[in-house]
Amino acid sequence: MERKRETFGSRFAVVMAMAGSAIGLGNIWRFPYMAGEYGGAAFIIVYIAASLILALPIFFAESIIGRRSGLGTFGAMEKLAPGTGWKWVGLLTVLSPIIILSYYSVVGGWSVEYLFKSFEFARMQENEVTGFFGLFISSTWMPILAHTAFLLLVGGVVLGGVRKGIEQFTKITMPILFVLILVIAIYGLSLPGSGKGVEYLVKPDFSKLTPSTVTAAMGQAFFSLSLGVGTILTYASYMKKDENILVSGLGTAGFDLFFAILAGFAVMPAVFAAGIAPGAGPGIVFETLPYIFNKMGAASPLLCTGISFLFFFTILAAALTSAISMMEVGVAFLTEEKEMHRWSAVLLITGFAWIVGVLCSLSFGPLSGVKILGNSIFDFLDKLCSNWLLPLGGLLFTLFVGWKMSPSDVFDEFTNSGTLKANKAVFKTVMLLIRYVAPAGIIAVFISLLV
Ligand code: TRP
Repeated sequence: MERKRETFGSRFAVVMAMAGSAIGLGNIWRFPYMAGEYGGAAFIIVYIAASLILALPIFFAESIIGRRSGLGTFGAMEKLAPGTGWKWVGLLTVLSPIIILSYYSVVGGWSVEYLFKSFEFARMQENEVTGFFGLFISSTWMPILAHTAFLLLVGGVVLGGVRKGIEQFTKITMPILFVLILVIAIYGLSLPGSGKGVEYLVKPDFSKLTPSTVTAAMGQAFFSLSLGVGTILTYASYMKKDENILVSGLGTAGFDLFFAILAGFAVMPAVFAAGIAPGAGPGIVFETLPYIFNKMGAASPLLCTGISFLFFFTILAAALTSAISMMEVGVAFLTEEKEMHRWSAVLLITGFAWIVGVLCSLSFGPLSGVKILGNSIFDFLDKLCSNWLLPLGGLLFTLFVGWKMSPSDVFDEFTNSGTLKANKAVFKTVMLLIRYVAPAGIIAVFISLLV
């Protein structure tokens, strides 16, 4: 059945939606602590290289598949390679973003809680502040409530559809986010003692460069650009035929990198100014920053509350625009392939992600004893997705475009039937990356993970 499919209204809308997907907890929460753990500037250099050489080709591969087929990930595989095993790749990449959505919403929920908590940091005792994160995430009901609120917000936007929901929401939110992160970064840089943090982020110490740094940087690049699970593929399927795949890819990757580095500048100088170790791990944003806000609160409660609120608002909004893109993958599948109504599709996915998310949330508290292969439920799902499913999906997408699709179709899609001169000129390089470099890089990561 041919149904009229929605599209994004303009190039600006495409880039904002894709940047909205890319920019999220991965940039503000994950990137600063990964950079902190893996040696600062040296990690950042590898991360930038991995983004350009490995991640960007996957981005183009997903864009080509999505727009060529004009369908979500499962439908795309069926249409471009009918009757082959590739449909299982389609199915895998429908399921994995829903799993990511489940645990991502738990952390999204934390940012909802912290938004409200911002009004209290100034008045809390120091030990109350430092102990809060641990108490909060290990409790039963509050994190579940926050997770529920977050998922309902996501579902609400996705329900609005591509134009009226996703496009409207991201077009308004993303420019605000850029201004906010800039304000916060400038504030962080103005703190006394922040110079060490800057130095940490720009002065590479290559002795810190180990194979695990490289693996971590690649994983971060894939996660941050939302690759390997059909998110970009699905969004690209909403691109009009005269949009430019090269430009939207470069634009999205550029914004994503820029935002991650700004987030680093927003977080690290403050961390150093407070005399905290940069490798403090995943707690850096939720534990360390409130501690810093609390210290500021002694001098100026209003400034403390204001900066804290802006900061957690930024995290929440960024997380929402990313979670929306994860939900849309499943919604596209259910509405296109299963002929479901949009609202029942949203309800079904929200319900599923809610249940799995509740288990993830409880795995910080009452269910902390439940281990899967030695990991808590949350950690297991995160590792399964970040370390395995994303690179695997990315690998399969590059192989599909590089070796399964006909080269003339790929050329046609990338250059809009040969009309885009700039794209023609870079086509060969992109194909080289898609066919050889990206697959080889990903396989190398798998091997290093196994040994
Ligand atoms: N890229 C987002 C972030 O940085 C998260 C995200 C959205 C994602 N869609 C994805 C991660 C698909 C992996 C796969 O927070």
